[in-house]
Amino acid sequence: MGVDRMRMFSKPTMLLVVLCFWAAFTEADYLKYKDPKQPLGVRIKDLMGRMTLEEKIGQMTQIERKLATPDIMKKYFIGSVLSGGGSVPAPKASAEAWVNMVNDLQKGALSTRLGIPMIYGIDAIHGHNNVYKATIFPHNVGLGVTRDPQLLKRIGAATALEVRATGIPYAFAPCIAVCRDPRWGRCYESYSEDHKIVQAMTEIIPGLQGDLPAKSRNGVPFVGGKTKVAACAKHFVGDGGTVRGIDESNTVIDYKELLSIHMPAYFDSIRKGIATVMVSYSSWNGRKMHANHDLVTGFLKNKLKFRGFVISDWQGIDRITDPPHSNYSYSVQAGILAGIDMIMLPENFTEFIDDLTFQVKNNVIPMSRIDDAVGRILRVKFVMGLFEDPMADPSLVNQLGNQEHRELAREAVRKSLVLLKNGKVASQPLLPLLKKVPKILVAGTHADNLGYQCGGWTIEWQGVQGNDLTVGTTILGAIKNTVDPSTQVVYMDNPDANFVKTSGFSYAIVVVGEVPYAEMYGDSTNLTIIEPGPSTIRNVCGAVKCVVVVISGRPVVMEPYVAGIDALVAAWLPGTEGQGVADVLFGNYGFTGKLARTWFKSVDQLPMNVGDSHYDPLFPFDYGLTTESRKGN
Ligand code: GLC
Repeated sequence: MGVDRMRMFSKPTMLLVVLCFWAAFTEADYLKYKDPKQPLGVRIKDLMGRMTLEEKIGQMTQIERKLATPDIMKKYFIGSVLSGGGSVPAPKASAEAWVNMVNDLQKGALSTRLGIPMIYGIDAIHGHNNVYKATIFPHNVGLGVTRDPQLLKRIGAATALEVRATGIPYAFAPCIAVCRDPRWGRCYESYSEDHKIVQAMTEIIPGLQGDLPAKSRNGVPFVGGKTKVAACAKHFVGDGGTVRGIDESNTVIDYKELLSIHMPAYFDSIRKGIATVMVSYSSWNGRKMHANHDLVTGFLKNKLKFRGFVISDWQGIDRITDPPHSNYSYSVQAGILAGIDMIMLPENFTEFIDDLTFQVKNNVIPMSRIDDAVGRILRVKFVMGLFEDPMADPSLVNQLGNQEHRELAREAVRKSLVLLKNGKVASQPLLPLLKKVPKILVAGTHADNLGYQCGGWTIEWQGVQGNDLTVGTTILGAIKNTVDPSTQVVYMDNPDANFVKTSGFSYAIVVVGEVPYAEMYGDSTNLTIIEPGPSTIRNVCGAVKCVVVVISGRPVVMEPYVAGIDALVAAWLPGTEGQGVADVLFGNYGFTGKLARTWFKSVDQLPMNVGDSHYDPLFPFDYGLTTESRKGN
């Protein structure tokens, strides 16, 4: 526009023109969904209105870390990444290395047209268990014994902080299974056979996610800030009730039993603002949960008003068919139409994206289902502040495995122990043990094995053996820390009876149990402790006063040995802080734990839960002897 013509316009007109251009420019630059002052519903609606089908399906796609690169994140609009069990950026990777990896992938997600942040998820089910130097807490089988919901809340907060220390904002925990048969390989992930204890332990959710604000509406997810994580109640529903405890198989009970035993903890989880729910591999009365619209959509979403997002399990939709992946289009259709919102895809994510895109474009799957799924995913991401703070905060790296958390884990170990027998020796109960005696024997496969005492889902999916896996205290190390310096501690894995008889030991501590396992690899029909545990018990306890400490993910066969031992302690899977075991064995703290699972006499009795007509346990549900703390001795 020439200068002469410019003179044609008065100053007020020019100002108006400039203002219009400014307003237009600002309007174009202002995106409602990016404004945290906008109501949640407005942000979701605005963003959804801008998204293409490709961008929506990308949000529903969770890929495994091994396949993820910044370019893949951008090209496919990937909404989530996970680390499966043992999937780490490098062996013994530092918190900084985790943060850098997560942030690199996040930059890829943020470089997309709409810049929707991705959410990184990991199994932090007993502390941040994939990560070297993280605090490993007792598995749930021991935590249910504590009957201490506030302890669980503190453990949740500590776990959330360590997960965030590695740049990760989402944990696939808690498992709220109600394990009804200890032959199930995942029974140690269950707090109890009693749903009321499982319900109480959902107090870990406000620990992980933060306390719900006063006026929160039921069912709306809540995650309170950068030291909290989105949690995941799993596995919906009835995972712990399968026939003979066979993992991923069939739970055969009527609707009333399903609702009264396996559903109650979901009510509590939703009331506490759970952000996500993971669907179970198992079936209910022959119907795969991953294809169960009535329960996933009809009950969880419509009746319980759950407003977070539903995530599949690892290849969960593939396993809808038998054999798995034998009709993938049906798997995609059945899983998505059942109401699953995010699909966990460790391998074939492009196949999933292509198949779902085809089915939506051909009206097999309605866009309304896609919009429900994406709306829920975006709700969680908005609620947890991921749009405002998408990048990991490297200032938290020093929180990984901090001493305060280790002390908390040690407290949890103490409270998780159950004293099942405490025989008198010279008119005094054997426990608590004397710290100052000339010489004691420590024996057994599990006395000096950090991997054994942590169990499955530790560093590796299936767990590991030995002491090199991470930082912690073995039970042998804890005993040495606790006895009087003048007391000689002799350790032998599997001593012979004659050696024990002739060595002048004041007493012996025998630590035996199960090797680590996870999921179907832990399914067992015999529930025996590993060799040479039985012979170690016989050799040692036949020759000297002994206490047997059992390291196991569940009750195991102990009936044949009980008469021949003086004292018996169930220690479950205590994790890295073995000092908690010695604290109680030697009387610095008393035994307080009560069985949260029935201890059977014989596997032939199983399944056998409190209240059953054939109930005839070795040690009943809620049983546990107590001792007084005796700091000095
Ligand atoms: C596993 C488990 C589930 C876990 C998921 C991701 O198969 O069933 O509990 O969260 O895959 O590791």
